[in-house]
Amino acid sequence: MKVVENRRSIRKYKDKPVEKDKILKCLESARVAPSACNSQPWHFVVLDDEEIKNKFADTVFTGLYSNMTFVKTAPVIVAVVSDKGNFQTMVGNFLKNAAFYLIDIGIATEHFVLQAQELGLGTCWIGWFNDKKAHKALNLPKGKKVDILIALGYPDQEPSPRPRKKLEEMSSFNKYE
Ligand SMILES: Cc1cc2nc3c(=O)[nH]c(=O)nc-3n(C[C@H](O)[C@H](O)[C@H](O)COP(=O)(O)O)c2cc1C
Repeated sequence: MKVVENRRSIRKYKDKPVEKDKILKCLESARVAPSACNSQPWHFVVLDDEEIKNKFADTVFTGLYSNMTFVKTAPVIVAVVSDKGNFQTMVGNFLKNAAFYLIDIGIATEHFVLQAQELGLGTCWIGWFNDKKAHKALNLPKGKKVDILIALGYPDQEPSPRPRKKLEEMSSFNKYE
């Protein structure tokens, strides 16, 4: 509960590298996440080389996305690459009109984020970036897509909690109301 309550989106980072073993722990937490039909439709590309990370940020946060340049101040950017899952999940997606792979990468990425929080690191989910440019920058094959980025580093701010719906607004027992 402490971990989930204390997590905040961090948009200002210390100029301090993140230890490789901490990044590996975050990846390990993501690795064990559940997924539809156990398809594990994710690949985490860790950009922790300053030059590569900055070049990537300069590419994907331009034009419409240039308000996200704070991400470049994070010492690490993680690109979460998805595929559409295995045959079973693709059939499931079609029949249920759902995108299970997006649910799957959401779970795995939040595992990553919560592990980072436990290790004293800060993160921010980033959905606002040029995904076509990210695809090209990472040299991804067809069928793979960068759906989300995670900024990672030591927090240099303590944001107040953002408002949330009340428990009774976001849940009900035995019927929808
Ligand atoms: C899927 C997703 C995409 C997000 N994209 C962005 C983004 O592009 N830029 C940004 O600054 N924050 C982004 N956020 C962070 C949200 O704004 C933040 O989680 C929300 O305002 C609640 O604040 P908190 O995380 O501090 O509790 C994103 C969060 C999620 C879950």
